[in-house]
Amino acid sequence: MKIIKAEYTVSAVKAEQYPQDGRPEIAFAGRSNVGKSSLINTLVQRKNLARTSSQPGKTQTINFYSVNDLLYLVDLPGYGFARVSRAERERWGRFIEAYLNQRRELVAVVLLVDIRHPPTRDDVMMYDWLCYFNKPTLVVATKADKISRGQWAKHLKIIRNELGLKPEHQLLPFSAETRQGREEVWDWLARAAGI
Ligand code: GTP
Ligand code: MG
Repeated sequence: MKIIKAEYTVSAVKAEQYPQDGRPEIAFAGRSNVGKSSLINTLVQRKNLARTSSQPGKTQTINFYSVNDLLYLVDLPGYGFARVSRAERERWGRFIEAYLNQRRELVAVVLLVDIRHPPTRDDVMMYDWLCYFNKPTLVVATKADKISRGQWAKHLKIIRNELGLKPEHQLLPFSAETRQGREEVWDWLARAAGI
């Protein structure tokens, strides 16, 4: 995908704040710190369009990034961040779920997991939920630069098994450091968004 224009559009915590122009949206979900915002930056070739941090819990709102005036990449707050209160976790659940559940423009979801570790219970719940609601889903195994290439297949197999990944669901290794997987992710996104 050739990026002609990438810009921040809006941050939302409720439906009235979502963009109104009806363009397709693709959301990025996953644990706090797994690399959602970094993946978006790599896709649009901008170092800091989506704010990243080594501290988990950086992204707190649903952030919409417009690409080539064609579609939105939607950065979601991460789940599974231990230091937030139960009340905050519930609030998270409600506003993310409302978006994932009700948003008609949402054409697909990219679920990120860390290539180094087996998926968490939250990851499995998220994946099951996406399957239940029949959302077109791509699973991306991030931080692939953190293990040697020779180890990828073994780690991907564990992720596939633990998530109970369906045969129709792709799992792609990715690195924001080396940009490994960027083209493959874009190919999938473009097809999902019909652009
Ligand atoms: P929240 O907004 O807190 O949910 O986190 P996030 O999923 O958006 O993660 P973010 O993109 O902010 O990245 C978290 C940390 O991981 C940052 O320090 C990134 O630099 C680092 N990181 C992200 N992707 C990669 C990657 O592919 N390789 C390496 N080595 N580090 C990465
Ligand atoms: Mg983030």
